[in-house]
Amino acid sequence: MDEQSVRAALAGLPLGGLRYYAQTGSTNDDAAKWLASGAPHLALVAAGEQTAGRGREGRTWQSPAGTSLALSLVLRPASVEQQPLARYTALGSLAVCSALEHSGLSARIKWPNDVLLQGKKVAGVLAEAHWNGERLEAVILGIGINVATESTALAEQREGRLRFPATSVSAAAGRPVERSRLLRAVVAELLAWQARALPAIMTAWQERLAFLNEQVRIETDVSGKAASQVGRVLGLEPDGSLRLELADGAVKALHFGEIRLHPLETDTI
Ligand code: BTN
Repeated sequence: MDEQSVRAALAGLPLGGLRYYAQTGSTNDDAAKWLASGAPHLALVAAGEQTAGRGREGRTWQSPAGTSLALSLVLRPASVEQQPLARYTALGSLAVCSALEHSGLSARIKWPNDVLLQGKKVAGVLAEAHWNGERLEAVILGIGINVATESTALAEQREGRLRFPATSVSAAAGRPVERSRLLRAVVAELLAWQARALPAIMTAWQERLAFLNEQVRIETDVSGKAASQVGRVLGLEPDGSLRLELADGAVKALHFGEIRLHPLETDTI
């Protein structure tokens, strides 16, 4: 995928701007630099390869050349409607799910925003808020997708054993999937979802929630103190928190943060 094919793939979409890098450190960092110099709403950064891709909770994210998608979208909330951060974080996973659904694949969202195909992680979302005092100035929504079958082996080679089993879009589809077509589908879905109202986004997020009514293990790490608990996933709170029923019947809302969720069967991963 070179700049020309990326621009051709995204032609006609109402983006605020587009920057493409054949190789970069992290598209979220590029978008943050662009933001500092006035990136408009819906400015997009895409890269052929990331050498310092970042994941949630300070982890690294592998976007090997020729096998994956790495993109970051700048969202500038309208000043009149400062919405919960969850609204923006949900957009990334919803857009990827919808794009995959168009290809006949049934994707699920492991709360808060990992995209799963056949129970394995195919895409990750890193939403970073940029504040101006109390005011949310922008959210940079970074999305990484494993597209070609080699992407997961390359990631494993570099990372060692992955924390959660991984797959690629091509492996799940059983055929090679073209990155530029998927890029267009994901960006088109991002643009459509970001224009929708909060209730529609929350409903769609909940409909695609992985492990609904299933037992999961929740690991938290608050100030270096690790804890783990088991509960049944009941759904989402209106603000995007995860509603969980604990073994003693108590219902608890888990907020974003230092939380990891695993289905009980893959408990050891
Ligand atoms: C995760 O699952 O931990 C989130 C991974 C997010 C990776 C994407 S790739 C594009 C953007 N640039 C980054 O450095 N990270 C995000």
